[in-house]
Amino acid sequence: MIGDVVELDVGPIAHGGHCVARLEGRVVFVRHTLPGERVRAVITDGTDTSRFLRADAVEVLDAAAGRVDSRCGYAGPGGCGGCDFQHVGLATQHRLLGDVVREQLLRLAGIDREVAVEAPDDGDGLGWRTRVAWAVDGDGRTGLRKHRSHDVVPIEHCPIAHPSLPEVTGERWSAGRVDAVVSSEGDAIVVADEETVRGRRHARESVRGRTFRVTGSGFWQVHPRAAEVLAEAVLAMVVPRTGERIADLYSGVGLFTAFLAEAVGPDGAVVSVESEAGAVRDARRNLHDLPQARIIDDRVERALRTGKVGSCDAVVLDPPRSGAKARVVREIVELGPSRVVYVACDPAALARDVASFGEHGYELADLRAYALFPMTHHVECVALLRRSSDLTR
Ligand SMILES: C[S@@+](CC[C@H](N)C(=O)[O-])C[C@H]1O[C@@H](n2cnc3c(N)ncnc32)[C@H](O)[C@@H]1O
Repeated sequence: MIGDVVELDVGPIAHGGHCVARLEGRVVFVRHTLPGERVRAVITDGTDTSRFLRADAVEVLDAAAGRVDSRCGYAGPGGCGGCDFQHVGLATQHRLLGDVVREQLLRLAGIDREVAVEAPDDGDGLGWRTRVAWAVDGDGRTGLRKHRSHDVVPIEHCPIAHPSLPEVTGERWSAGRVDAVVSSEGDAIVVADEETVRGRRHARESVRGRTFRVTGSGFWQVHPRAAEVLAEAVLAMVVPRTGERIADLYSGVGLFTAFLAEAVGPDGAVVSVESEAGAVRDARRNLHDLPQARIIDDRVERALRTGKVGSCDAVVLDPPRSGAKARVVREIVELGPSRVVYVACDPAALARDVASFGEHGYELADLRAYALFPMTHHVECVALLRRSSDLTR
């Protein structure tokens, strides 16, 4: 089965950077194609008895509008797995991402709403990635992994990488992973297996007039516009008021905490919860001028379970890809917030958790989606959930 070449009529986009086709009644997830295309595709995964197959389009028989020539020599069938949509024009990418978010909300939360994806990047979708985690192959060359594989494709120039990223390709590395970082303040850092080998220990990132320090390869949004766009979306949805008590869960180095703390002022409080030690250290530095911000150095699950967070007027959460899950959702609801703002990098996890909030009487009141990872299937969403009883008042 694997390696067979088949002709497929390609149907809608699905979450994960592929489209859905059918082969003798079975679902096939096909990469490097577009809805409405007819392609010749090679089967890359599955057996005669698998429920579904995976395939990669190797020849386009009928092209859809929206297909463009890829500007990356590494993307495409069997190549680098970092980008999914180098063959798709940006406007079509945004439409497809909107379709994915809409479909996840409908399927997992039973909510039917149009999703218009906003594009803060008005460029050509290249040169935006300010942080790259390079894999290293057996010969010490940096590269990126193939799709669903540990194989490393050696790469000399990645077109989505920011042009000011420190150069690491062309060298031989003994580390297993090499992180390259360039910050908004121009700090260029190279971290090999978590040890800084070039540049300062901390990158300085500036957002809305504040400077944040981020140690080494610690978490920070990768698109140059993302931190500002997301902070503004969070503030616009929370509408923090003087004196309020707000929780910022999965708070990283304190990006949202800082602006929420400024907004609630010295009579208010922001309780932020983060478990990664480096991020907590950075957050303490980043928030030292805001005594109303309190950092809890713990896992969100435990901080909530042990009552460390306390009752809140509003909760912001920005969990990793796996989302918050039902128990954390229930415990957030028990804090009694009138609004919950959920920042999500995975629309499936978001939709599942929106459904959980729905079971506790919180409705999706607003949703914004941002194309902050051009050429990939990733999309960032910011959702506002409000208590249904408040909405009907
Ligand atoms: C998507 S990042 C968001 C960070 C921050 N809101 C920002 O925009 O910079 C998620 C953060 O959650 C932290 N994290 C992951 N799992 C966690 C958990 N179970 N409890 C607390 N923090 C966690 C990670 O270390 C990371 O800093």
